[in-house]
Amino acid sequence: MYYNSLIETIGNTPLVKLNSVNQGIKGTLLVKVEYFNPGHSIKDRIAVKMIEDAEKQGKLKPGGTIIEGTSGNTGMGLALVAIARGYKCIFTLSDKQSQEKIDILRAMGVEVIVCPTNVAPDDPRSYYSVAKKLTNEIPNSFYPNQYDNTSNLDAHYESTGPEIWDQTEGKVTHLVAGVGTGGTICGAAKYLKEQNSNVISVGIDSYGSIFKKYKETGNFDENEIYPYLTEGIGEDILPKNVDFDLIDTFIKVTDKDAAVMTRRLAREEGLFVGWSSGSAVHGALEYARGNLNEGDIMVIILPDHGTRYLAKVYNDNWMKDHGFLESMDFATAKDIIESKNGQGELFTIEKSMKVGEVITLLNKEGISQVPVIDNDNFVGSVTDTKLLHELIGNPDLKDKAVEEVMDDPLPFVALDNTLDVLSSLIDHDNQALLVRDQHKKIHIITQHDLLMAMAK
Ligand SMILES: Cc1ncc(COP(=O)(O)O)c(C=O)c1O
Repeated sequence: MYYNSLIETIGNTPLVKLNSVNQGIKGTLLVKVEYFNPGHSIKDRIAVKMIEDAEKQGKLKPGGTIIEGTSGNTGMGLALVAIARGYKCIFTLSDKQSQEKIDILRAMGVEVIVCPTNVAPDDPRSYYSVAKKLTNEIPNSFYPNQYDNTSNLDAHYESTGPEIWDQTEGKVTHLVAGVGTGGTICGAAKYLKEQNSNVISVGIDSYGSIFKKYKETGNFDENEIYPYLTEGIGEDILPKNVDFDLIDTFIKVTDKDAAVMTRRLAREEGLFVGWSSGSAVHGALEYARGNLNEGDIMVIILPDHGTRYLAKVYNDNWMKDHGFLESMDFATAKDIIESKNGQGELFTIEKSMKVGEVITLLNKEGISQVPVIDNDNFVGSVTDTKLLHELIGNPDLKDKAVEEVMDDPLPFVALDNTLDVLSSLIDHDNQALLVRDQHKKIHIITQHDLLMAMAK
């Protein structure tokens, strides 16, 4: 079995249950993982539909040029379709887009023009205006215009919506998606609401965008518009693909909340997704807390892959510079041992030491766990609570060597491991961690040390 071209592999992306970030929330939360598309985003779906419709309508002829103002993902989809069908591509991007997105498009043979973000859409320098101007100047060129071209909405009506319906066997009760052009949520919601008019659609908007206020008041309030960082969602225009009747309610999500959730999706769910996926899940959880019941099935669209955001939300320094990571999240094993100022010297005991002597030593030093060594090798560990339990069951153990009752050695961690990683390693079985400093000296980090670091 093989495909005739990459284009045939677009769509039919998996639906996956969330298991961690949704703790405490009723109902089933499923995510539609759109990075399984060949261009690693949901926009492959609209690219192929917009080009096919343009060909059918005679707007795009062989050898033509595709021109688009795109946040990168649509560009990637269009580039794939253009390569398969022999078209040239020129794309305009705003300068807030990640360098990775620009580099990827250039790798695909696209001519990329970077335009300023902080100018009005009708300013001749904006990426909308530059794309329109080029279309007027270049013969046999086609401007798909994902904002106002309703082939975008149709693509989701024909593929995303039916897939969700089939994958949930018609049981979906809620749909959540970020709103940029509006194509995803409106196309999918249109299909789902036609199957079951009770399906509720929740649009995710950014702070700095006009959608939510417009839905709630009917006012195009320019005061709502200001620069923000999340890529792909929110707008300062009303695209034709946003049909407000198909979006039941909007939730706004901050850049920070979205970024933090994006990182949690990677670490807790293994979903290495883009920033707007964090917005969608953060907003979905906020909505779900007050509104979802047992038995409800919420489908959340995750539009793209994490690689394009490596230099941003997945970069600790970038997160810290933007105030998105609290300093306590950022403390490392090195910070913790330095903050102890040489106090808490590492005690070790030889494996032949008698259990009774170990208990006396732990009491005298006021420590509750200690590594066991055999000629400088860490071979085990013991805690006072474990020794107490063992002794109550068998008082004769007092005169036995500690190696007979010891647990596994404490794990070693790297000096640059951050607090969140360290705390995930401390549990019932490992009540402390070991770390070797730059001078090869070994230190112990206990649960108490982590609590002290967090309290700072
Ligand atoms: C990363 C990302 N997320 C979400 C969206 C929003 O989807 P739609 O344009 O279908 O509303 C886009 C669209 O540009 C996007 O690129």
